[in-house]
Amino acid sequence: MRTHVLTAGGAHRFASVPAFAPDSLLARKVRGAFFTPPAIAQFLTDWAIAGNANAKVLDPTCGDGVFLLAAGERLRELGARPAAIGAHLTGIDVHEPSLDQARAYLREDKLDATLIRKDFFNLETPARIDADVDWQDAVIGNPPFVRYQQYGVAARKRAAAAALAQGVRLNGLASSWAPLLVHAAGFLKPEGRLAMVAPAELLTVGYAEPIRRWLRSRFERVNLVMFEELQFERAEEQVVLLVAEGTGSCDSFTIWHVRDADELARRHIFDASSAALRDDGKWSDLILPADSRQLFRKVSTERFARLDEYGTPELGTVTGANDFFALSDVTRRQYRMDEKLFKPISPPGTRHLKGLSFTRAQWEELKLSGGRVWLLHPDPKSKSEALKKYLAAGEAQGVPDAYKCTVRTPWWRPPVVPVPDLFFTYMSHRYPRLIANTSGATILNSMHGVRLNTGVKKLGRDALPLLALNSITMLGAEIMGRSYGGGILKMEPREAAGLPVPAADVVAAAWSRLSERRAGLDAALRRGEWAEVVREVDRVLLMDVMRLPAESVTAMREAAAFLRIRRTRQTEPRATEA
Ligand SMILES: C[S@@+](CC[C@H](N)C(=O)[O-])C[C@H]1O[C@@H](n2cnc3c(N)ncnc32)[C@H](O)[C@@H]1O
Repeated sequence: MRTHVLTAGGAHRFASVPAFAPDSLLARKVRGAFFTPPAIAQFLTDWAIAGNANAKVLDPTCGDGVFLLAAGERLRELGARPAAIGAHLTGIDVHEPSLDQARAYLREDKLDATLIRKDFFNLETPARIDADVDWQDAVIGNPPFVRYQQYGVAARKRAAAAALAQGVRLNGLASSWAPLLVHAAGFLKPEGRLAMVAPAELLTVGYAEPIRRWLRSRFERVNLVMFEELQFERAEEQVVLLVAEGTGSCDSFTIWHVRDADELARRHIFDASSAALRDDGKWSDLILPADSRQLFRKVSTERFARLDEYGTPELGTVTGANDFFALSDVTRRQYRMDEKLFKPISPPGTRHLKGLSFTRAQWEELKLSGGRVWLLHPDPKSKSEALKKYLAAGEAQGVPDAYKCTVRTPWWRPPVVPVPDLFFTYMSHRYPRLIANTSGATILNSMHGVRLNTGVKKLGRDALPLLALNSITMLGAEIMGRSYGGGILKMEPREAAGLPVPAADVVAAAWSRLSERRAGLDAALRRGEWAEVVREVDRVLLMDVMRLPAESVTAMREAAAFLRIRRTRQTEPRATEA
């Protein structure tokens, strides 16, 4: 289903409204108070009110009233009487100074609104007899984005109960915007319109899955507007605009891509397409143009497997104090501690892992050059005097007080994960890599490990690290992973498990053509020539073996690059906070 609903009205009407900053940045962060650029507020409001001069409009977290101003102006343009406008606009906020400021701005503009100081989750929906607020034609605004760790248990329970009353069960990890969105929709008339700013994680995070399902069942039409550039300077979050209307279930969304808020106002929307939605899972691939998205879904479903069909990604050891528990051989010898007190590990970090494998020879080399190649893991009954001395040094440094040490007995014996067949680098600037582990060493939590299933052990270890360097897997990583601080792509074990990697039959066929050139490609990778290696793997795996046309392979490579550049570029905010 496709709708054409994005009708931004007029010019930038109140671009000069200054941002109101009544409290400190920290206090604002705690309230989730990052204010919407007027061009965005105006665009959402104009759409939500459409041509209805009698529209009742609610902003559930109105702050200094940027949406209410936009709504008042729109209603006035449509011919509403000033007295009626005041009765038709409702704004809620917990923060009195923000409401005062909203009142002042409205007055300056000869407008009025009903402003209520209240926690929105305590405002009954109009379905209740004792409700203070009537059914609404439009619900607009920018919900606070406060992570679950930052608000209290009671507030969280209230929010979850409000969402549950609308039929949405959220888990305890949900950030504040999620229940707020659901509760806000409880105020809409059946044909009403919801137009809100939402964090882009709406599309990607696990806890928002009930929201994604609910959007599909609750609304008849859902539109998403994505920005190519960050719109909120200090919120660090990428946003989407959620524009939904009607009651009923929709099986497709309309997606719009714009560069920034100004482009919204100029209505230079350059890309719209219908998308068939997955029943569950993430929707990050909606960010891609339709043809790339469809091609990716087809190839990854038909010719690729999930990584966990080879083996399950697992977390590495969390020691609680790597500086103490991960030792160089020099330190071990200084304390005269026997090797038996240790397990060999790949040293913390991933910088030493540039190639396709980590071998025993590389481990020995790191050992000689001062790498922290040992993990302290003594027999709990050890009587070693040398160990006692080392532990006393740790006690003097306060190591036993580290959280992880306080929850295990004895504190000085970190758990050790079984030696994995593959390493999986899960924090990546460019893309996650699989590395064959033939060193006999285990890992700390700077990497995940994968123990391969028996049937695919040899093929998986020999071939997968090279053959995973293809454009479909790289695009899959951008889609399945999450963008972390500094543009880093992060994949938790659950996300890594779903990474599309070539299925065993195609791996075997491609490996028979590439195995002789492994050493050369490994050397190229170590020199940093990864783009050349990916090109070569694409040529053999995707074109020769899978018989994908060259244009399709180029499209996948460009789609992966598009998402990678988007991810890394969005860490540098451009627009100013309004
Ligand atoms: C992201 S700001 C949006 C403000 C304004 N609508 C805008 O876009 O500029 C979120 C606002 O929500 C308010 N807020 C946070 N939690 C709230 C709650 N539970 N009920 C009502 N308002 C809340 C904050 O005080 C803040 O003003």
